Amino acid sequence: MKKTTLLLLIALIFSWAGCTSDSTVKVENLRLEMKENPLGINVTQPRFSWQIVSDRPDLAQVSYQIQVAASPEQLESGEGLLWDSGVVRSDQSVLVPYAGKALKSGKPYFWRVKLATNQGDSPWSDVGSWSMALLDDSEWKATWIGEDALSNPGEEIGVAGGNNKTRLAARYLRKEFTADKAVKRAVLYISGLGSHEAYLNGKKVSEDVFAPMPSLYYKRVYYNVYDVTNLLAADKNTLGVILGNGRFFSMRNPGMKTFGLPRLLAQLQIEYADGSQATVVSDASWKITSKGPIVANNEFDGEEYDARLEMAGWNTNGYDDGAWKTPDVMEAPAGKLTAQQNPNIRVQETLKPVAIFERPDGKYILDMGQNMVGWLSINLKGKKDQPVSMTFAELLQKDGSLYLANLRKALVTDIYTPAKDGDFSWQPRFVYHGFRFVEISGLDYKPELSAFTGHVIYDRMATTGCFETSNPLVNQIHQNSYWGIRSNYRGMPTDCPQRDERLGWLGDRATGAYGEAFIFDNSRLYNKWLQDIEDSMSPEGSISDVSPNYWTIYADDVTWPSAFFYVADMLYRQYGDDSAIRTHYPAMKRWMAHMEATTMQDYIMTKDQYGDWCMPPESQELIHSKDPARKTDGAILSTTVYYDLLNKMIGFARICGQEADIPGFESLAAKMKEAYNAKFFDQETAQYGNNTVTANILSLRLGLVPEGYEGKVFKNIVDKTEGDFGGHVSTGVLGIQHLMRGLTEYGRVDMAYKILTNETYPSWGYMIRNGATTIWELWNGDTADPAMNSANHVMLLGDLLIWYYEDLAGIKCAPDAVGFKKLVMEPVFPDGLDEVSASYRSVYGEIKSAWTKKNGDFSWDITLPGNTTALVRIPKEYVVTVGNLPGVRRVSATEGYTEIEIGSGSYHFGK
Ligand code: BGC
Repeated sequence: MKKTTLLLLIALIFSWAGCTSDSTVKVENLRLEMKENPLGINVTQPRFSWQIVSDRPDLAQVSYQIQVAASPEQLESGEGLLWDSGVVRSDQSVLVPYAGKALKSGKPYFWRVKLATNQGDSPWSDVGSWSMALLDDSEWKATWIGEDALSNPGEEIGVAGGNNKTRLAARYLRKEFTADKAVKRAVLYISGLGSHEAYLNGKKVSEDVFAPMPSLYYKRVYYNVYDVTNLLAADKNTLGVILGNGRFFSMRNPGMKTFGLPRLLAQLQIEYADGSQATVVSDASWKITSKGPIVANNEFDGEEYDARLEMAGWNTNGYDDGAWKTPDVMEAPAGKLTAQQNPNIRVQETLKPVAIFERPDGKYILDMGQNMVGWLSINLKGKKDQPVSMTFAELLQKDGSLYLANLRKALVTDIYTPAKDGDFSWQPRFVYHGFRFVEISGLDYKPELSAFTGHVIYDRMATTGCFETSNPLVNQIHQNSYWGIRSNYRGMPTDCPQRDERLGWLGDRATGAYGEAFIFDNSRLYNKWLQDIEDSMSPEGSISDVSPNYWTIYADDVTWPSAFFYVADMLYRQYGDDSAIRTHYPAMKRWMAHMEATTMQDYIMTKDQYGDWCMPPESQELIHSKDPARKTDGAILSTTVYYDLLNKMIGFARICGQEADIPGFESLAAKMKEAYNAKFFDQETAQYGNNTVTANILSLRLGLVPEGYEGKVFKNIVDKTEGDFGGHVSTGVLGIQHLMRGLTEYGRVDMAYKILTNETYPSWGYMIRNGATTIWELWNGDTADPAMNSANHVMLLGDLLIWYYEDLAGIKCAPDAVGFKKLVMEPVFPDGLDEVSASYRSVYGEIKSAWTKKNGDFSWDITLPGNTTALVRIPKEYVVTVGNLPGVRRVSATEGYTEIEIGSGSYHFGK
């Protein structure tokens, strides 16, 4: 054979080998900063992520190559690339930082990635894209405009010492302009405070609602970025914006911070095909009116719409705005203008009501069948000038009328006034309600159910988790949690969605955020919230228990502020994203030092504000227990949690390269442990304080129990639960964060399962048996004082959802990994539970785990995404054959377990 022929043959063999293996490996789900083709990125080294699929098991990335260019054509041709990473030998496929030429403000970028894997090379991925935000404040040419007056009857700004209600009509703003050349790209940068709804030529620029997301406006103001190229017309155009009050002109004043009257900042940047540019900015050349149909909008009180004031065509060319005013130039809010990085809120689902009843007074009650959050759209017949009003409630009274007492002073009523007799359709824009029932008045007939649609509204994020078992109650609790969580995202996690509160209470989410992260991709939302928390800190270093601090609560307690740390840790563990830890480390350190200096005495944290909030009280009529035997000493709560935060800070310091801080945290932790045990631990009885489950479980789970005493302390938890509470939960918001995992970790999964499946008071099952379709604020939410019994709080979930996914399903990230790159799958199998089937869409792709154990037969199906591995642990009593399954890397036997190491792919383990 001639030499060239031989070479050709070798080349052929290589390319053939490449081809066969290549064809199975694909790159999918490109993400930039964890978002799909985002606009308005504000970091100069954004991070790329992708997922890898193959039809063969055990897929591992060997290297990647990323290319970035200013256009798809340049990417394709390879000329003028801004970054070619070259082939980087690495298995990293999540959050790889950009390291190319400087990215320019406002510009679009395109990227692709190509991989080598242990199964051959992938082709180039599809092209992903993003655009940069306005990176420099000087690029803003727009002026804040609005109407600096109350100009309609009945409008109120709230007064100290008087009625603190606020009432204000929506502002309508418009501007006509000309785009006289062929347009290449048009981008709208906009911030409308409190909320904006923007139109170009009568069409909404996006389906977002309540945008931008709330912030502490004198520290930070978010703006949104929309690509409006397709909405721009040749020649004449009209930009129209409606401004709602949102949280800027807040619902109550004083009592809730009000920042001022609504205002708009808008800048439309047009790039023409010939390379020239034009900018349309908000300024005094616009027109404004507050005499439009939205005569009031207040998130607590509702929206009022007077169709008689409609201004047909106001947001299109040629509308006669002669009666409109020149806008006032408004003061710029002091906060830093920041491109919002978390997605806005949208309608995520629609729901049809299940029943309608007529009341003796001629009003109707609509039942949505589900406690939900959002609004109702209506298609009804009305009479000119006769208002149709809708009042929203979570519950009914015994007589079938609305139960409003738990809404406190929120008026929760939307009103539509028809301009003529006949059919009309309407839905509000700037308000939302937490409701299952709606009372409708002002109709002369009984409407069909089909006339109503419930719109479920919360931050745009993927549902990532799915969980089913053979026990319907266990499934229903998961379902209630799902509804409760999506009910309580409003650009920040809120305590409740219905009464006159709806605020970012920290303590509710300290551990909850982690459980929620199994069901929803809440990474961007929680990242944003941590910024709210830092923005809301006092100059002295206190964290506000409500952040953004629309209520300022610098109580210098430990347990509520701990969310700042636990949520940052969650973002790292669940998503592999350490950026929050890096960003907020200095603020965290400042708070730790402030607390040490101000509230630590002899290594004990002395201050606490809320106790073990909402524990089941001795009488079902009480909100809070008065029984000293049930209450946990505040110093125990503060000291155990602060001690845990010191340990978190040790890990954070390592991530941030601040190793010099570590010895200080370590020695303080050691001293605290000693002082804590000297003060609160009874060596004889192995009890902490007055021996509540909360005191003992926090000490145990957070690592304060002296070595050798763990079993005894745990026995106290078990004895107390069984002896004093008949196998029921006895904890409030603090203890519940560790209860399910703690009981399981120390060998009493049966007790955890009993607590889970109880239907008698107090339990999640009790809530369901009493009609709950979400989770209550109080274990006794049906009997306690209405002053504090929201039917839609998530804080009593504690660590339940973590336990569902990690312990029942075995979908657990290995302790030495993050983001589920490596799992340890070791489910627990409570007696009485025959089947669990769960899935979780991690940053690497979907993980599935489904086991059954019936009549002595055990089987377990597992799916792992590309570029991940798992250590699977199956108790010896469940005999499984593993054999030579492809993808199984190793099988070994340890005491009590068969251990199987697997790569990606789908596996069936059974007889
Ligand atoms: C809120 C809670 C919050 C608590 C703290 C309540 O009014 O609804 O969820 O954590 O106050 O005091």
